[in-house]
Amino acid sequence: MSPLGRASIMCGIVGYIGKNNNPQLGLSALRRLEYRGYDSAGIAVFNPEKQEILCLKAKGKIDELEKKFSEARFSGSPFILHTRWATHGEPSEANAHPHCDCQKNIYLVHNGIIENYKELKEALITEGHKFASETDTEVLAHLIEKYSNPGQPLEDAVRHALKEVKGAYALAIISRNDPQKIVAAKLGSPLILGINQDEFLVASDPAAIVSHTRQVITLDDNEIAVLSPDNFFILKEKPIEKIEWEVEDAQKQGFSHFMLKEIFEEPEAIKKSIVGRMILEQGLAKLGGLEQVSEQLKKIEKVVIVACGTASYAGKVGEYMFEEYAKISTKLEIGSEFRYKNAILDDKTAVLAVSQSGETADTLEAIKEAKRKGCLCLGLVNTVGSSITRETDAGVYCRIGPEIAVASSKAFVSQLCILALITVFLGRQREMSLVTGKRILEELEKLPNLAKKILAQSDYIKDLAKKYSEYRNFYFLGRKYNFPIALEGALKLKEIAWKIHAEATPAGEMKHGQIALIDENFPVVCICPYDSIYDKMKNAMEEVKARKGKILAITTEGNEEIKSLADDVIYIPKTLEMLTPILSVLPLHLFAAYLGLELGLDIDKPRNLAKSVTVE
Ligand code: M6R
Repeated sequence: MSPLGRASIMCGIVGYIGKNNNPQLGLSALRRLEYRGYDSAGIAVFNPEKQEILCLKAKGKIDELEKKFSEARFSGSPFILHTRWATHGEPSEANAHPHCDCQKNIYLVHNGIIENYKELKEALITEGHKFASETDTEVLAHLIEKYSNPGQPLEDAVRHALKEVKGAYALAIISRNDPQKIVAAKLGSPLILGINQDEFLVASDPAAIVSHTRQVITLDDNEIAVLSPDNFFILKEKPIEKIEWEVEDAQKQGFSHFMLKEIFEEPEAIKKSIVGRMILEQGLAKLGGLEQVSEQLKKIEKVVIVACGTASYAGKVGEYMFEEYAKISTKLEIGSEFRYKNAILDDKTAVLAVSQSGETADTLEAIKEAKRKGCLCLGLVNTVGSSITRETDAGVYCRIGPEIAVASSKAFVSQLCILALITVFLGRQREMSLVTGKRILEELEKLPNLAKKILAQSDYIKDLAKKYSEYRNFYFLGRKYNFPIALEGALKLKEIAWKIHAEATPAGEMKHGQIALIDENFPVVCICPYDSIYDKMKNAMEEVKARKGKILAITTEGNEEIKSLADDVIYIPKTLEMLTPILSVLPLHLFAAYLGLELGLDIDKPRNLAKSVTVE
């Protein structure tokens, strides 16, 4: 089984060594990783005056650690930090990282899971080691202690220890006995190095360090790096890459929450996803990442889209687009199911992974499975250099900068736009006419401005959220291209306004069961743009109305008749039917965010969730 084949802890890690002795720098970096988990956090700093490692831990979000740190105020370098999403051992101070050995010489932070920790722990206890936590991680500190010898470099002990370990890890390790270095190691979990003049960083993702340096190296599995104040060393030569997005992209820029900022960035995200990727006069999509496999794509008879959560709803819209316009048999498969169902795949199948993070374990494993079965593997990913981009043969980037809020929003509209471009790319290789290709691209080009018109209604949508905040159950309905948008509207509401339960089905399914739920206390959100199945949606709304259900409708500007059916209406501008999801989802993102705020919830960090789900 591959390293990510089982559960791996999500978590975020940061390490710093260099001229700056203020660990506050590390705390700021760690905040950018809080989306990866936020049940406890910790820091360990080598203090040169005392010649010892000082460690602080706190249960809860990074704010709690920051409070402790502002009282303790110790300084030094190197320092390592961690924000945790618990799997092994409850969220508590004792289980928070950094973890250390018996002598408090070696401290480390870890993202991943040590699958054989029980056996290792038993053996270490027999040898006399004393454990202070319930985590799998702590065995690493004791193992490194076991292999440490006076005068020997820390990396040697790390190398020996890791030979005994099964599982996944991204590690940053410091030692009082070899204090002028951080040793970093990776297998399965992401880890990058940040390179700067007289200082080096290590982190789970570039967002943590981009305000410091844009020069990064992505570590590969089984690599160990040694960072010192003025140099770094990896077991093999690696190219330095450049981060293309700006520091501001990872800041709130005047918004109270990243979630709101990112929803308000949706028009820009649409623009960034399509700009330079269309040859309008020829009705062609110019997707550089797919050009290299263009000939293979011409021979493809079937597409399987694999994704999870919100990305899977984008994939479902893609399924409808590819079948209707590119005329290719397409199926959306949920990543976590795909691996175990023995899908019939061959070299005439392209498997497309859709993922914001590019790290989602279920999607990544689905791609590995497809690779084993000889498929052409493609990625539609936002995070440059992420694991899925490295496992796939070719792909397209979203190019929308980092998405920080745990719930996905701008990445979703970007994925939809790129799926529309891929539809044109594949379609024009097949039967799609120049006229149709041109039409889709022309309508895509108009979307950023149309999306802005929806954002101009944000105050109205905020009022609606307030009005509906007294309800605890919602039902979302849509059909065809807007069925996945019903799923997305319900998921977003559940995630960020989690005191509310919501569900969604295709509107035609309601009469087969869910209709039993409907009464005056069960609002129904109907996504019913004026399109080919509008009349069918109207039938469903009549059925809801007949049972006294409240209706909030999302429909096309100019549709006045809907007012006789719906209690409230949000209008979206007219566009091509296949592109309506890109507009209809925007009011639903706003509605969920405002409802979450109305209920007093932290919409950036919903309870129990983490952004990159590297757990199977
Ligand atoms: O990074 P990915 O796009 O692969 O993530 C997939 C899902 O985990 C993600 O969309 C999740 O459902 C979000 N919480 C949705 O807001």
